[in-house]
Amino acid sequence: NWTASSIIDDQVAKIREQVGDAEVICGLSGGVDSAVAAALVHKAIGDQLTCVFVDHGLLRKGEVEQVKHDFVEATGIRLITVDAADDFLTALKGVSEPERKRKIIGEKFIRTFEKAQLQVLEEAGARGKEVKFLVQGTLYPDVVESGGGDGAANIKSHHNVGGLPKDIKFQLIEPLRTLFKDEVRAIGTELGLPDEIVWRQPFPGPGLGIRIIGEITKERLDLLREADAIAREELTKAGLDRDIWQCPVVLLADVHSVGVQGDERTYGSPIVLRPVSSEDAMTADWSRLPYDVLAVISTRITNECRQINRVVLDCTSKPPATIEWE
Ligand code: XMP
Repeated sequence: NWTASSIIDDQVAKIREQVGDAEVICGLSGGVDSAVAAALVHKAIGDQLTCVFVDHGLLRKGEVEQVKHDFVEATGIRLITVDAADDFLTALKGVSEPERKRKIIGEKFIRTFEKAQLQVLEEAGARGKEVKFLVQGTLYPDVVESGGGDGAANIKSHHNVGGLPKDIKFQLIEPLRTLFKDEVRAIGTELGLPDEIVWRQPFPGPGLGIRIIGEITKERLDLLREADAIAREELTKAGLDRDIWQCPVVLLADVHSVGVQGDERTYGSPIVLRPVSSEDAMTADWSRLPYDVLAVISTRITNECRQINRVVLDCTSKPPATIEWE
């Protein structure tokens, strides 16, 4: 029988015991899980924690600014931002197989953290020491789906679990490892995080990288970022944010179909809308969004994103499909 505050007390005690006086680093993804994990660890050990936000270039529009401003303002946590977009894109060049994308992104994340270590120690006033621990916002469903649960199949390598390199030099702190999303949200609220963070829709660590079906390029990312921003804006405007669990927007980059835009024949790619309802992401149903809202999103995307000439709706539940396309 859990309450948010009893879990917090429990974890705070555990984290203090595990960490001692060592330095700790936490990677922020912009999502609720890593934000709550960081806030929890910050409550336990205060200034021994430094957060690192890796801008891997696979983020949505406005996300970098949100983390840099809103999160820091709400928590007072020390934050370092690393711009690694070019580095990630280079590593991902020519790769279209989903598991390889996830492994590459997961590995690059860790290497980027390791490299950020000197800067972390300097800002923490702990030069000469070592960063010993890494905080991860891994939830119970991530553990199960990466094959870490009891006998569960490896469905996808979530970058914060299955995608970790074998020779990782940090010890992990995963205070949310036994929890579901609703519990994490309750803890976030109890810790004083604002609604914009606590109620943010889930966004995968590998970001837009696993929402471009095909090779990831800068142009494709920019295109998807625009389409995604339009869909999110219209869903918010329609007041649907808390009704749906999340709405991935997916670019079928290697698929081409014929369209007519303006007076011209076009040969463009489709965008898929994947709105789902769910309790914990283990299972999900496709959301029956109002047709009017779908119509506005479709019209705006095809008008404002030149290379997109078709918007399609994914009406599959999970199972058999997963929420993300990769
Ligand atoms: P799937 O696609 O497996 O997604 O049905 C279940 C939930 O997990 C999110 N997701 C991820 N979250 N790292 C994360 O932190 C990942 O690699 C990852 N992959 C999927 C997905 O958005 C959905 O909410």
